[in-house]
Amino acid sequence: KKNFTVAIDGFSSCGKSTVAKAVAKKLNFVFVDSGAMYRAVTLFIQRNDIALDDEVAIQQALDNIHIDFVPNLEKTQILLNGEDVSEAIRTMEVSEYVSEVSAIKAVRKAMVHQQQQLGKKRNIVMDGRDIGTTVFPSADLKIFMTASPQVRAERRYAELAAKGEEITMEEVKENLAHRDHIDSTREESPLRQAEDAIVLDNTDLTQEEQLDFVLNLVREKL
Ligand code: C5P
Repeated sequence: KKNFTVAIDGFSSCGKSTVAKAVAKKLNFVFVDSGAMYRAVTLFIQRNDIALDDEVAIQQALDNIHIDFVPNLEKTQILLNGEDVSEAIRTMEVSEYVSEVSAIKAVRKAMVHQQQQLGKKRNIVMDGRDIGTTVFPSADLKIFMTASPQVRAERRYAELAAKGEEITMEEVKENLAHRDHIDSTREESPLRQAEDAIVLDNTDLTQEEQLDFVLNLVREKL
């Protein structure tokens, strides 16, 4: 029997990873947060002071970057060349730069390739921006998540504040708008809803309701 692929896309901070993780856990599928991969590349580029228009250096960086996911009981760790960067990729510093990095053609090519490899021969739930359109265009189930900008900003703000980041609600809102703009207007695989995607607006839904919504769709197709 063929493996089953769930693609979850949407704007920043819609809660994609939270749902994707819960679905994967429930069904015992592999969960991959593709945004974490772009964040890890961004961290590497920042640490090594690589200019984004330096194509040679970017390609060299991509050739030297190895990303791994280590599933743990609590959460999945992301390793950048063996180092656990799960926390380091979540800072505002990375968030402010990640969409510029993600718009680079060579970066997308390398990440999409790795993502497709991860999805081969296993049941997988992957969330991101271009999973249903580019990474897995023939995914068994495609979800496009949305939520009101206010709710998204509140969620992200609470997340960052809990980690002790000194940040204002205004800065969070600006960052979300900035990333959404670049992500949906870039030339290479821009964020857009796949034609066959099902919309999940979770503005007024609990996490449990979102999980049920997706599980029911999966079960219809399994
Ligand atoms: O999902 P997350 O918000 O962590 O993603 C961070 C950034 O990575 C996004 O704003 C986007 O620029 C980029 N990204 C992407 N394609 C994906 C996943 C994330 O371009 N599939």
